[in-house]
Amino acid sequence: MRIIEAIDYEHMSSLAARYLIEKISTNPELILGLATGGTPEGTYKRLIEDHRTNGTSYKDITTYNLDEYVGFSSDNPNSYHAFMYENLFSELDIQDTNVHLPNGVAIDLVEECKAYEELIEETGGIDIQLLGMGSNGHIGFNEPGTSFEANTHLVELTQSTREANARFFKAIDDVPREAITMGIATIMRSKEILLLVSGETKRNALKELLNGDVRESFPASVLNRHPNVTIIADQKAL
Ligand code: F6R
Repeated sequence: MRIIEAIDYEHMSSLAARYLIEKISTNPELILGLATGGTPEGTYKRLIEDHRTNGTSYKDITTYNLDEYVGFSSDNPNSYHAFMYENLFSELDIQDTNVHLPNGVAIDLVEECKAYEELIEETGGIDIQLLGMGSNGHIGFNEPGTSFEANTHLVELTQSTREANARFFKAIDDVPREAITMGIATIMRSKEILLLVSGETKRNALKELLNGDVRESFPASVLNRHPNVTIIADQKAL
């Protein structure tokens, strides 16, 4: 595990963007796993800036997002689908057919999870997965207690995660109770992982990840078992 120290959120975002741009430039057909939330927003802004000024192309890049809320279709402004278009995809030359998020309104959600997992496999697996982390150690929506063996699956969100995500909604009651998420096993099959951690609210979680035991009650701890993880963390989180 490699740890890169950033001064603050902006610096973390620049370092992360530079890291990804280099991967994309080396492999224009990169299969990229992406996250939503506040942590990667600054990175996405910089990817857009770079695309505008330096012309880095995403036309042959394929993306798989970690998760999507159940019950939210892609045109719901609070869906992760909408988040990704608003914060990244609509500003890049990526092809819509290469963009993948779980379908939160699939008629058979269990089948949707299976199909998502299979699609990732068929495409050749994720080359680099970008991750944020919840303050309880969740990655994707894999809450404490999730089996490390889990593939893409349906989850019930914990109250703490719903509260943390309420800032994106008018009221906590509007935050969905369920989501589809890549499982820990899905994430661990990525060839490489880039975890971003910023701010004081993540400090204890990062400490736990770096010093605690690997255990299912702290999902991010599993990253200690992955052979190629880079963490970019800012000083408030370190
Ligand atoms: C988002 C995701 C989550 C977030 C985590 C941190 O796709 O999978 O695990 O990375 O909840 O969220 P922020 O970045 O908003 O602190």
